[in-house]
Amino acid sequence: MLRVGIIGVGYWGPNLVRCFSDLENCKVTAVCDQDHDQLLRIKDRFPSVYPMENFDALLDRALVDAVVIATPTATHHELTMKALEHDLHVFVEKPLAKTSAECRELVQKAEERNRTLFVGHVFLHSAPVIKLRELIESGELGNINYISSRRLNLGPVRRDVSALYDLAPHDISMMLYLTGQKPVSVSCSGFDRLNPGIHDVCNLSMRFEGNRMGMVHVSWLDPRKERVLTVVGDKKMAVYDDLDQEKIKVFDKGIDKPEQFSGDFADFQIAYRYGGSYSPFLREREPLKAECAEFVRCVLEGDVPLTDGVNGLNVVEVLEAADHSLQRGGQPIEIASLDQITVGAP
Ligand SMILES: NC(=O)c1ccc[n+]([C@@H]2O[C@H](COP(=O)([O-])OP(=O)(O)OC[C@H]3O[C@@H](n4cnc5c(N)ncnc54)[C@H](O)[C@@H]3O)[C@@H](O)[C@H]2O)c1
Repeated sequence: MLRVGIIGVGYWGPNLVRCFSDLENCKVTAVCDQDHDQLLRIKDRFPSVYPMENFDALLDRALVDAVVIATPTATHHELTMKALEHDLHVFVEKPLAKTSAECRELVQKAEERNRTLFVGHVFLHSAPVIKLRELIESGELGNINYISSRRLNLGPVRRDVSALYDLAPHDISMMLYLTGQKPVSVSCSGFDRLNPGIHDVCNLSMRFEGNRMGMVHVSWLDPRKERVLTVVGDKKMAVYDDLDQEKIKVFDKGIDKPEQFSGDFADFQIAYRYGGSYSPFLREREPLKAECAEFVRCVLEGDVPLTDGVNGLNVVEVLEAADHSLQRGGQPIEIASLDQITVGAP
């Protein structure tokens, strides 16, 4: 039985307390938040947890084997490092930390201490994303040309990080997982109206090897909620709409080039393909619950998580390069390391 402590029970943390409490092979023994009122609310809902206001005191009390960190991004590095130094396993919400240098320190510390470092890229545990990956791996979509996504809503507005750092980690983690690649270069433009320097709207584009592209549009200043990711292959195309009942639709659509194309556009006969569409069966499960279960399994069985520290680092490298680009008016920024991601490229 793994004893878990949840740190930070503001907006997101209570969902983690609920999901971990539902698991049979773990027990939420303590909850920590520096805000006393948040602790009172949690204590009302989960009377068996031990509430604490001080993280250091929690570490010293030896109440837990693992901690789950759901505090603001700027605190992730310090709290995760302290927990690892106390030989605890750590689940940390996305993004792993603010900079790639901080991420590398955490990856190294977790290795040194032989502890599980798990990053909350929740969509990699969701049935639609797993299905999309299957569709790509089976070759049904053909060669992937590009992936685009829109993550828009009116709020919640953050004061500590931009929409890029708050929202895009989800889309970046999905695109790296689906392509099995890290981008070669990125560019990003954006718009900060509410708080100077904290962008409310960002447009990120990523170039991958093999002439592939990824485009991400995030905003908390938009009238309608949208959660849509489109994968365009040269055989078929798939759309994942998280707000639709039929979350994935596969379209037998495309544009075929004539086999004997001379290169002269006067000869170019565009052949549009308008085939049918279908919605594949999805083994529905709550992604957050699946994610929590996977963390506990990895700790108990000593497995390396799909969303380990290196995976978290890859996402932060893209964020960091995008942020440099944002500060330079959208100038393309190369990502230094072109290593392929180790987690099973399709
Ligand atoms: N996976 C998802 O879909 C998802 C969704 C929302 C938020 N998140 C992530 O969860 C994290 C928290 O976001 P949130 O929206 O809940 O933020 P929040 O500001 O609502 O809550 C953070 C809580 O942490 C507490 N806290 C801050 N520093 C602390 C410390 N040193 N010790 C103890 N408590 C401390 C604060 O008092 C607050 O209650 C962020 O990393 C965010 O990116 C993930």
